[in-house]
Amino acid sequence: MEVTFDTTVVCPPVIQRHERGEWTLLHDLKNHTVVRVNNQGLAVVEAVARHPRLGDAVAELAARFSMTFDDIAPKVLQFIFDMSNSGFLHIETYKQIKIKRPRLEAPKGIYIQNTERCNLGCVYCFNQEERAHFTKDHPEMTTEQLKWAIDQIADFGIPQINFCGGEPTLRDDLLEVAAHARDRGRLVCLVTNGREDGDEFLAAAADLFDVVWVSIDSHRREINDRHRGKDSYEPAMRSLRKLVQISDRRAIILAAAVISSNNWEELAEMKRYFLEEIGVDRFRATSYSPGCAVSLEEEWSLQPPPFVRDASVLPPPDTDFADFSAGFDLELEVEYDGKGGKKVRPPARVINHCGVGNGELAMLSNGDIYPCQLLCKPEFLAGNLFDQPLPEIYRESEILQQLRELTVDRIPGCSTCDVRYVCGGSCRATALEMHGDMEAHIDYQCDLYRRNAVDNLWRDSKIPIEHVAEARKKLLDVRKQVEGEKVELGVGVGGEEAADVTASQEEG
Ligand SMILES: C[S@@+](CC[C@H](N)C(=O)[O-])C[C@H]1O[C@@H](n2cnc3c(N)ncnc32)[C@H](O)[C@@H]1O
Ligand code: SF4
Ligand code: SF4
Repeated sequence: MEVTFDTTVVCPPVIQRHERGEWTLLHDLKNHTVVRVNNQGLAVVEAVARHPRLGDAVAELAARFSMTFDDIAPKVLQFIFDMSNSGFLHIETYKQIKIKRPRLEAPKGIYIQNTERCNLGCVYCFNQEERAHFTKDHPEMTTEQLKWAIDQIADFGIPQINFCGGEPTLRDDLLEVAAHARDRGRLVCLVTNGREDGDEFLAAAADLFDVVWVSIDSHRREINDRHRGKDSYEPAMRSLRKLVQISDRRAIILAAAVISSNNWEELAEMKRYFLEEIGVDRFRATSYSPGCAVSLEEEWSLQPPPFVRDASVLPPPDTDFADFSAGFDLELEVEYDGKGGKKVRPPARVINHCGVGNGELAMLSNGDIYPCQLLCKPEFLAGNLFDQPLPEIYRESEILQQLRELTVDRIPGCSTCDVRYVCGGSCRATALEMHGDMEAHIDYQCDLYRRNAVDNLWRDSKIPIEHVAEARKKLLDVRKQVEGEKVELGVGVGGEEAADVTASQEEG
């Protein structure tokens, strides 16, 4: 499109601003586009908001930065092209992105409970109830049946299989079954309490799995034991120490802690200890999900950490919210690159949902399929693999269809929130446990979710510079037109600092 100084540049109708240091994040609440600008970039957006005619905005900026119109014009044009290419600013009219209902695709991951049995009895464990009744009433699948189930999962195209439990290492065929999943091209993750700590097993696991997640709730035995019991600390620590020593391992070694009112104050120290002293590849903290554990009946009350419930309580210094997940969330932040390698998961996209019924599934050891790990209760049974093919269960189960409709727009308190399509609303299973209503707003988690959502916006606002290559080509043409000569490419607006101006877009 030809751009002249009479061209109208249009800002989004509603912009939410977030400040961090010298940067301002601008969030278009209609199109859900986010851009990160420095002070000069912000000045351009403000000038355009006041003077939609490009020439008028340039004139205002020239006066403000004590530059001549001709000197500042190419820099402003370049920035406006970047911003329009990224979908934030618009030429002539505001183009609203139609947010299409996402196509129903195969889930990204499935949690397989190869057994509900466990050697421990952690006070908070969300699957104690089902362990008690499944181990009694249902036979576990045989090795061959588990491989058959994995074939169904692979044929359906679910890329990631997390072996969870119960304690998955209690089954002798774990490695054989996981190897089958690997052979079928799946990303395989083991979630374990570390009980199987023999050298041979750990070497095989480190070579086979993409992620080995070892659950441990503190570097201090007495704190860990309050959550996970007295037999839990040594094996988990031993496993971690041995796993990190295995050179050329395939697996990412992850120490994962559940954070509650008991251990939140030492979160930063815990993270430092596991990352620096033990040498794990990743540390992950997850807030205790209440309501699903015997802990509520315990004499001492187990609560989620106070900073999750109340924004006025500051998290421990150095707490990195990127490491902190508010509910039970097994996203492992790696995915296949299609060639057997791993890459970091791309930034979050617009979401309107916590993911229940859409994106992930859980399978119990008898082939029962549930919407998520926290909802393995009879009323949420979606089907059984022995009765119906998996894709049919996923597409046609009534309960999954109902849960998919449970969008953030239906949750009072979330439906008008500015970050709702980044947050997705908090965990619906927790809403059910805490308020008896899957559509309830969960006050105590909201602050944490909000902080995470804003962090994600900042993260999403960074993009590689090649994304704006197209804009730069157009810019060259305009510059030639404006300056009447060939020019060098540059980035940003107004001087040295302007090289930091970046713009990005979330896909609608
Ligand atoms: C159910 S366990 C199964 C795998 C294995 N037994 C273990 O402990 O790692 C999976 C993960 O869920 C975590 N978990 C269990 N109950 C939880 C709860 N109420 N809130 C948050 N995380 C929980 C455990 O700490 C563990 O990291
Ligand atoms: S959290 Fe894991 S180790 Fe603890 S009781 Fe539950 S299944 Fe067993
Ligand atoms: S930040 Fe809070 S109010 Fe906003 S969508 Fe998330 S849970 Fe709902």
